Amino acid sequence: MITNTDLEYKGNLYPNEIVDFKQETDKIYFTTANGVVLQITVLRNSMIRFRYTTEYNFEPDFSYALNKNGLRGYDELNVNETATEYIIQTIRMKVLVDKKTLRTQISDPAGNIINEDELGFHWEENYEYGGNIVKMSKITKTGESFYGMGDKATHSNLKGKRISNWVTDQYAYGKDQDPLYKAIPFYVGLTDNKAYGIFFDNTFKTHFDFANEKRNVTSFWADGGEMNYYFIFGPEMEKVVRLYTDLTGTPELPPLWALGYQQSKWSYYPESRVKEIAKNFRDLKIPCDGLYLDIDYMDGFRCFTWDKKLFPDPKRMISELASDGFKTIVMIDPGIKIDRDYWIYQEAMKNNYFCRRGDGPLMHGKVWPGECNFPDFTNPKVRKWWAELYKEFMADIGVHAVWNDMNEPAVMEVPSKTAPLDTRHDYDGHLTTHRKAHNIYGMQMVRATYAGVKKHVYPKRPFVITRAAFAGTQRYACTWTGDNVATWEHLWLANVQVQRMCMSGYSFVGSDIGGFAEQPDGELFARWVQLGIFHPFCRVHSSGDHGDQEPWSFGTEITDIVRKYIELRYQLLPYLYTMFYKYSKEGLPMLRSLVLYDQEDPQTHFRTDEFIFGQQILVCPIQEPNSKGRRMYMPRGKWYDFWTQEVVTGGMEKWIVADLDKIPLFVKEGAIIPKYPVQQYVGELEITELFLEVYFKLGIENSTVYEDAQDGFDYKKGRFSLRNFKLHGKENELIIQQFKDGTFATTYETFKIKLHGLPFKIVTIIIDNEKVSLTDVMFTGNNTLEVTKEFTTLQIIGN
Ligand code: GLC
Repeated sequence: MITNTDLEYKGNLYPNEIVDFKQETDKIYFTTANGVVLQITVLRNSMIRFRYTTEYNFEPDFSYALNKNGLRGYDELNVNETATEYIIQTIRMKVLVDKKTLRTQISDPAGNIINEDELGFHWEENYEYGGNIVKMSKITKTGESFYGMGDKATHSNLKGKRISNWVTDQYAYGKDQDPLYKAIPFYVGLTDNKAYGIFFDNTFKTHFDFANEKRNVTSFWADGGEMNYYFIFGPEMEKVVRLYTDLTGTPELPPLWALGYQQSKWSYYPESRVKEIAKNFRDLKIPCDGLYLDIDYMDGFRCFTWDKKLFPDPKRMISELASDGFKTIVMIDPGIKIDRDYWIYQEAMKNNYFCRRGDGPLMHGKVWPGECNFPDFTNPKVRKWWAELYKEFMADIGVHAVWNDMNEPAVMEVPSKTAPLDTRHDYDGHLTTHRKAHNIYGMQMVRATYAGVKKHVYPKRPFVITRAAFAGTQRYACTWTGDNVATWEHLWLANVQVQRMCMSGYSFVGSDIGGFAEQPDGELFARWVQLGIFHPFCRVHSSGDHGDQEPWSFGTEITDIVRKYIELRYQLLPYLYTMFYKYSKEGLPMLRSLVLYDQEDPQTHFRTDEFIFGQQILVCPIQEPNSKGRRMYMPRGKWYDFWTQEVVTGGMEKWIVADLDKIPLFVKEGAIIPKYPVQQYVGELEITELFLEVYFKLGIENSTVYEDAQDGFDYKKGRFSLRNFKLHGKENELIIQQFKDGTFATTYETFKIKLHGLPFKIVTIIIDNEKVSLTDVMFTGNNTLEVTKEFTTLQIIGN
């Protein structure tokens, strides 16, 4: 047998035999003769943490990524020993630790190996910086697939790729360019139908090699810090994503308007131009909730100031826009202009809030305002100060929401595009340099922003957007995929990136619709809107220097198509809001790649284009010009064509017709899809009826509708309405049962129910055991019922 000492090549060092073992409740420690300690912590039946150190000592345990309120606890834990290994067992997983090498092997209770160390933990001394480069390598099985990892702009299945995590301002990035704006060191592996997840909680620059260098090896390593990873076992992929999302957290519900359509540009100014844009939306009857002010609203790009020539009275403007249903969102960047007369600069200087270099002076760099200093957001005092800066904007001026940009932090005119690596950070009392703090700098900035916005928009809900992110940032902010380009390839990328983010626990995400750099033509814009309305964050944004990018900028044909899709988004708001509720509460991803939807079907393992919006709507964007349709893979099961109502059986590729005004769209049989009427903005209309689109199925399917006051926090006191519908279709009968939870009284009592695909002619309708005459429920020729009261059971009986 080859021991680790035999393997010391390429400067790598390996643990040798275990000489000490100790258990402290859920923590088990193994120490090797050469001073490596492995700490295994059992967190849940299906979640175990592996943490390694060399030279006997662990650094203090601290993580920005973890959600403090995540669920912990397991049913059983057994630790046994044989001559060659230790065995740690929960009711869902078994971990073997080899006594000679410290290598581990993880299997399910039936003994199927899920994941196994190849060389396992090893390290290399980092000569340049001191400390270790910590490494882990795992055996890759034939047919194993890999997903997740945040915003990587590459094929959804990462097998064969090598990537790294270092949040980077990557203007007009290309396909396969890496790294981009986010660092989410979490992947999902799928092997022999079983899924597991690995979250490498290390904020240094990290690297992942998915069977790229060696066909049968997957490895990950970091430029410093600890080998510290969480292993999550499914075997369902959905469970892996849910447990990871619980570990790193979910956002609270945003105000419902944040799910409405948003219009942005760099930049809309002066006030009259903003007003003109707003008026166009209302005149053309294109729904819109959010209008964005990019950097030019500021006075010389100084954060928390206004250019009073362009915006003489922002408070008045914002309230006038609000009276027409528009919310104003403003940008705030991290760089503070070095300007002796600027009060924020003065305050930060006085209190020593700016980052300093290793050898003493303030760290400075060029951004939009010219030379700037950068607050150290990893210092809790700085975060508190920063949060309070929002008071005037939110509470006094009435700004509705904030987007934080350039928070990688982006620095111009230097090759590294960011702060020097010797920049010092407080890191919440664990003093360090930018090497460790870089990947969480933006996260800590937006964390402070979130705290401030939340406090100062109270009793309304906060809505904050960030560009840079690390694992866990989803707790604080929505995000977008950064500076993309108006090309067809970028439409493909937006689709993959948003799906990938959802797989990585970060569902509140969208792309700059139409492309940020360069100018789309009408066709590309329309196709992108068709995709964008199915992204959790739906915003058109552009650099603005190539022409206009508003829904009406491309002629009436395109305007009409765009309107039709934005209207569809507003109709689907209760469905979308329910998706968000499930994401927030249960960690369910808002979009599912096909593999996440049906991992047992190997056809899904390499699909990138199709995805499930929520749990019941299948979407497949058109990603090429001049298309009359496309081939797409229909996942297994039966699907109703949203446009024609035709039922299609999945498990195969199909040609789907889709002229410019159509995106291939299907509804899962048995689904009950809730809809609101079209509104020009959220809250424009009082909802007087809930429209339910019911897609008949022989058998059972459950659907949910979550509603509440659409803003504020009353829902936390139980004032929500959760309708769980159970549809049961038989040959000549359809039963819809409703189970209600929550104390929120919805504003409607009427349900308009449209029945699709009913295989029989209706003869009798029974509502809560009472037979009603068909004319009473206004039963019309196209199978639409109107039930004018809350019901528990609706029985529709045929001949
Ligand atoms: C960055 C952002 C972009 C913004 C621009 C100006 O490039 O990614 O969205 O419009 O800065 O603020």
